[in-house]
Amino acid sequence: MKYRKFGKLAWEASALGFGCMRLPTKDGRGYSDQVDEAESIAMIRRGVDAGINYVDTAYPYHGGQSEIVLGKALRDGYRDKVKVATKSPVWMIQKPEDFDTYLREQMTRLQLEHIDFYLLHSLTSARWEPLVKLDVLARAEAAVKDGRIGHIGFSFHDNHETFKKIVDAYPGWEMCQIQYNYMDVENQAGTKGLRYAASKGLAVVVMEPLFGGRLASPPAAVAEVVAGDPEKRTPADIALQWIWDQPEVSTILSGMSSMVQVEENIRSAERSGVGSFGPGDFALIDRVRAKYRERAIIPCTKCEYCLPCPNGVNIPRNFELYNDAVVHDDPTLPRFTYGRFLGEKERAEVCTACRECEEKCPQAILISEWMPKVHQMLGAKPPQG
Ligand SMILES: NC(=O)c1ccc[n+]([C@@H]2O[C@H](COP(=O)([O-])OP(=O)(O)OC[C@H]3O[C@@H](n4cnc5c(N)ncnc54)[C@H](OP(=O)(O)O)[C@@H]3O)[C@@H](O)[C@H]2O)c1
Repeated sequence: MKYRKFGKLAWEASALGFGCMRLPTKDGRGYSDQVDEAESIAMIRRGVDAGINYVDTAYPYHGGQSEIVLGKALRDGYRDKVKVATKSPVWMIQKPEDFDTYLREQMTRLQLEHIDFYLLHSLTSARWEPLVKLDVLARAEAAVKDGRIGHIGFSFHDNHETFKKIVDAYPGWEMCQIQYNYMDVENQAGTKGLRYAASKGLAVVVMEPLFGGRLASPPAAVAEVVAGDPEKRTPADIALQWIWDQPEVSTILSGMSSMVQVEENIRSAERSGVGSFGPGDFALIDRVRAKYRERAIIPCTKCEYCLPCPNGVNIPRNFELYNDAVVHDDPTLPRFTYGRFLGEKERAEVCTACRECEEKCPQAILISEWMPKVHQMLGAKPPQG
């Protein structure tokens, strides 16, 4: 296993971390609470035996079973070999004491008296403001003081401006977790966010390195481009190496859902390193990206000339999610994002077809005609996770 600098801490994280959000399940449904406990424990322990020293879970994963199963996997001496990260379900916090109530419940589930990294889960602009008002970080600091948690961090799902604002708002952050992969360079925190957080001394943990698995099994047209790789690496390996090449990344969390994936990703991590991606590799990624983008059917460039919408619809974000679903032949994650992270008033369904935006769109997109289609595709109930 290769190890990497973890922000300002005098500790190095394994290049590969274990994300426990997509453990194998008995009913075959990705996010279900029917976790295949024996197989999950075997996979986590195999990862730790191979040198993984960072494991990540959260309150809602697998309906609460992820923390429980991880707790079991860490028995028999495995606890001492890893740092454990879990996350506060901030959307459930109504009053300051709730922070401690959930933390206690999570410690019980994990069977731990100390959690190494405790993150405020999935921060967005809308989630951040109420947490500030409830002074949740004072609660977190008290938990550090009495030893319930080691370090305070946050995971993030919003745009770069919000990311920077949150990084700057609290000097006590020691780490953050961002969605990052070769399709997300300008999306969410993005490459700018990665570099900014690292420049402030935060460790940056990468989640969704394979875009929730989609980059590992690309549609045929994209797979053809990937197959042009002279080294014949798998799409997953190429995507992971692209991230590991960047010095600001502390560890990559992979949500491995089979032992085969664990073995493959361990082998990838062993070959990883800053500077290991050559000019030919970057050119390959450029071609892959271009092929994905070619598939987008709404020609929105996110120029935002259409905004503000008089009804508050976040037009570019709706289009981006719709295009994502089409580009990857898979609406699952865009649906989840639409339901969970787009404010109710920002969603396509709020469009009244007033067409004010259409006069301003330089691409002449018939926005009012697209909006019902966007909502029809993305408005289906999101999975838990
Ligand atoms: N804090 C947050 O808001 C948040 C959000 C998302 C994730 N996370 C954390 O970050 C972790 C990583 O994110 P993620 O699970 O979305 O990671 P990811 O690596 O983008 O996606 C995981 C999926 O990729 C596929 N995969 C992994 N390795 C593969 C390989 N070698 N070959 C082929 N396919 C492979 C599997 O899909 P199949 O099952 O389809 O084969 C797996 O379920 C999560 O597990 C979770 O711990 C946190």
